Amino acid sequence: MALLEAKNITKDFISGNRTVKAVNDITIKIEKGEMVAVTGPSGAGKSTFLQLCAGLMKPTNGKVILDGKDLYAMSRDDLAEFRRNHISYIFQHFNLLPMLTAQENIAVPSLLNDIKPEDGKLRAITDSLGITDRLEHFPFEMSGGEQQRVAIARALINDPQCIFADEPTGNLDRKSTRDVMDLFSRLNKDGRTIVIVTHDPEVAGYCSRIISIVDGKTN
Ligand SMILES: Nc1ncnc2c1ncn2[C@@H]1O[C@H](COP(=O)(O)OP(=O)(O)OP(=O)(O)O)[C@@H](O)[C@H]1O
Ligand SMILES: [Mg+2]
Repeated sequence: MALLEAKNITKDFISGNRTVKAVNDITIKIEKGEMVAVTGPSGAGKSTFLQLCAGLMKPTNGKVILDGKDLYAMSRDDLAEFRRNHISYIFQHFNLLPMLTAQENIAVPSLLNDIKPEDGKLRAITDSLGITDRLEHFPFEMSGGEQQRVAIARALINDPQCIFADEPTGNLDRKSTRDVMDLFSRLNKDGRTIVIVTHDPEVAGYCSRIISIVDGKTN
């Protein structure tokens, strides 16, 4: 059985008297242990597609089955708990909490599960991302690339089974991009399923399959 199955999902946004079909009838399966790239032009619907798949946005039509669960048939609370235990999401615009330091931001998912992250584990992740010397800094004190790597560390702290990443290397230089992709590749070899939205052919090159989205449709 596929880990993720999106069945005829659509998402309409109404702005004024216009309806934008951001995602227009996509059906897709992703198997457990795959590492998949999602590519396509700006405005094609990639971020919308990713959020629909990750249980963050209810589709206008269609359904998303993840690990056997019909995500949007669950109650809000059950879906939130399911996401906490199974899914990590790296946002295109980081979404760090501005009042918390890097270390505190990274610890948030563990604290939501009533676990204090082990220092060793947090350190191993931040070392591999090259941000250990930034742990006491607040987001406004960090560059875009550093904030992005903090957001990636936060997404990895709970050992998620399924990682959704929206342009995780969009603000990184080549070296940091390779560090992040090497880390994702290791997690993938350990059995994690990873879906990455990217414009970068080098990033897509790390993935075993490419889903191309144009005008809200796969082709
Ligand atoms: N909340 C919203 N309200 C109205 N329209 C939206 C909303 N979110 C996205 N859209 C529209 O839906 C379409 C798809 O947007 P989306 O952010 O999914 O594109 P994208 O492929 O991720 O683009 P980019 O590469 O620039 O990040 C765009 O036309 C966008 O303007
Ligand atoms: Mg986007």
